[in-house]
Amino acid sequence: MLSLPTVPLLLAAYLGGAVSAQVTTDSHSAASKACGLLKIELPNLIAFPGSAQYGSDIAHWATSSVQNATCSIEPQTSKDVATILGIVGRDDIRAPFAVKGGGHAYNLGHSSTSGVQISMAKFNALTHDPVANTVTIGTGLTWDQVYTLLEPLGIMVAGGRVPGVGIAGLSLGGGYSWKTDQFGLTVDTIVAHDIVLPSGKFVHVTNKTQPDLFFALKGGLNNFGVVTAITYESHPQTLVFAGSVAYAPNVTDQFNNAVANFDLKNSDPKAQVIVTYASVFGQFSSSIDLFYDAPSVPPGVFDEFLSIPSVKSDVKTRKFTEFLSTTFGNGDLGIGPFKVAQNVIPVLKYTIPVLNQMVNQVTTLGASLTQKFNGSVVVVTCSAEPFTLPFAHSKGGAYPHPPSRQVTPGSPFIAVQATADPTQEAILANSVKQLSHAVQATAVQEGQSRWDDLLYPNYAIAGTPLTLMYGSNVPRLNQIAKNVDPRGVMQLTGGPKFGAGHT
Ligand SMILES: Cc1cc2nc3c(=O)[nH]c(=O)nc-3n(C[C@H](O)[C@H](O)[C@H](O)COP(=O)(O)OP(=O)(O)OC[C@H]3O[C@@H](n4cnc5c(N)ncnc54)[C@H](O)[C@@H]3O)c2cc1C
Ligand SMILES: *[C@@H]1O[C@H](CO)[C@@H](O)[C@H](O)[C@H]1NC(C)=O
Ligand SMILES: *[C@@H]1O[C@H](CO)[C@@H](O)[C@H](O)[C@H]1NC(C)=O
Ligand SMILES: *[C@@H]1O[C@H](CO)[C@@H](O)[C@H](O)[C@H]1NC(C)=O
Ligand SMILES: *[C@@H]1O[C@H](CO)[C@@H](O)[C@H](O)[C@H]1NC(C)=O
Repeated sequence: MLSLPTVPLLLAAYLGGAVSAQVTTDSHSAASKACGLLKIELPNLIAFPGSAQYGSDIAHWATSSVQNATCSIEPQTSKDVATILGIVGRDDIRAPFAVKGGGHAYNLGHSSTSGVQISMAKFNALTHDPVANTVTIGTGLTWDQVYTLLEPLGIMVAGGRVPGVGIAGLSLGGGYSWKTDQFGLTVDTIVAHDIVLPSGKFVHVTNKTQPDLFFALKGGLNNFGVVTAITYESHPQTLVFAGSVAYAPNVTDQFNNAVANFDLKNSDPKAQVIVTYASVFGQFSSSIDLFYDAPSVPPGVFDEFLSIPSVKSDVKTRKFTEFLSTTFGNGDLGIGPFKVAQNVIPVLKYTIPVLNQMVNQVTTLGASLTQKFNGSVVVVTCSAEPFTLPFAHSKGGAYPHPPSRQVTPGSPFIAVQATADPTQEAILANSVKQLSHAVQATAVQEGQSRWDDLLYPNYAIAGTPLTLMYGSNVPRLNQIAKNVDPRGVMQLTGGPKFGAGHT
């Protein structure tokens, strides 16, 4: 991630001579200037600190992802978006800005800014094409909103697994779904993007009309413009057999055996699970979310999990949306404002030593951080995501997910109740890196991971090198970014950046 003060420097290096001379070195005054012009151009869409709109525009799932923007704005049309990009990117302004969909980015600055905060909230249309079996969704919607609209139509799309997550970020970064073993990552089910390019031009992107952009938008995040809508393949939806089961610490060994067996033996793409080891305020527990994409599950698939004595279990036949809301609520942690650090551990198969190491790390880090953050609730979790063949339906795209190397995104996460203490962020980041490293080291020893396995961009912690997320696609993505954004407008926003010659 670029820190904001470095943006003008990188631009200077990237653009060279004539243009760099016009780049303002004061991002604060650039933002003020942009906000002043936006107030004149789009007076009904802009908001300033203190207003309700501003509050919701800068809000994020995690407090640690929020920044106080100079102003915020909710474009309503692609023309509004073009106007905004025109102003922030003007050669004599070059204001930092951010584009926010669902606001669930884990990293500061990826969808937040001290400059102009763009919220896509008004792009909330959803249309269904029953002939083409596609659904077109505005990038201001969240997955739970989408599923609530689709369920009465008897269809679904392969989107996010937890309520509250935005369709935008998840779809532009990859997308692991309850349907991934059946249909692929979310990007594999996308047939078109509507985008406002950095030039202000509106383009409907398909593999036929714009193959480079189509490729780039499948994992390349906010580097190529502002996406206003995405078109997905839809699939019929029945009731599902799903729910979650929680276990006391005294059955962890039995549970780990069941997880390793499931990962090794399951070949039914309708069966998906998320395994979570958690330490909350120092208390350890394990749980599993079970999902079978039909009203009943064939014998054998989940039996081992269901036969272990549990402290809570609600697995049953139900509506898709009811499973999500019962299992995850609104997706919040329920501990008030919190700071987070998230990362990813690429794993082929979760063997027992790998699972034991997750348990061990969660337990010891949970204890030490609970002591360190004296009094604040600390949540340390590590999830195994034992997909069977998540890349079997890969059609390529910016985020490489080749069928030849089917790593799954093991998911370590740490949260703490937010205080004003500015050292919290660094402690969380270092701890989650330490946890990831320890678990991956065991997976490497087990032959289930390699240190150069690619990391899922939507989970990877800020600062992860581009090549560790995008591999050999980096040069092509840099070139596409330079072609589509010769003036480096999207360099003014945060997150992994292409086109600046950086890796
Ligand atoms: C509780 C929770 C559950 C999750 N579950 C899953 C899961 O099941 N599967 C999975 O794959 N991931 C999951 N994730 C990770 C998720 O994919 C990322 O956090 C993702 O960034 C969320 O998208 P968003 O729109 O909410 O985020 P935002 O913070 O709004 O945006 C994220 C990124 O997308 C860019 N962006 C947003 N809108 C646009 C736009 N219109 N045009 C261009 N760029 C844009 C932003 O600039 C930013 O770089 C989860 C995250 C959380 C917090
Ligand atoms: C952002 O603004 C709020 C409200 O004015 C303030 O409480 C908070 O400290 C500010 N945060 C930062 C990081 O400046
Ligand atoms: C395991 O712990 C649970 C919950 O504390 C308890 O109900 C159960 O009896 C314990 N089982 C064994 C075998 O000790
Ligand atoms: C921990 O919290 C207690 C009670 O709030 C306080 O008295 C103590 O000084 C704190 N210790 C540290 C190391 O912050
Ligand atoms: C685009 O089409 C080509 C040629 O049919 C295909 O090989 C490729 O996988 C497609 N790309 C995507 C991202 O769907």
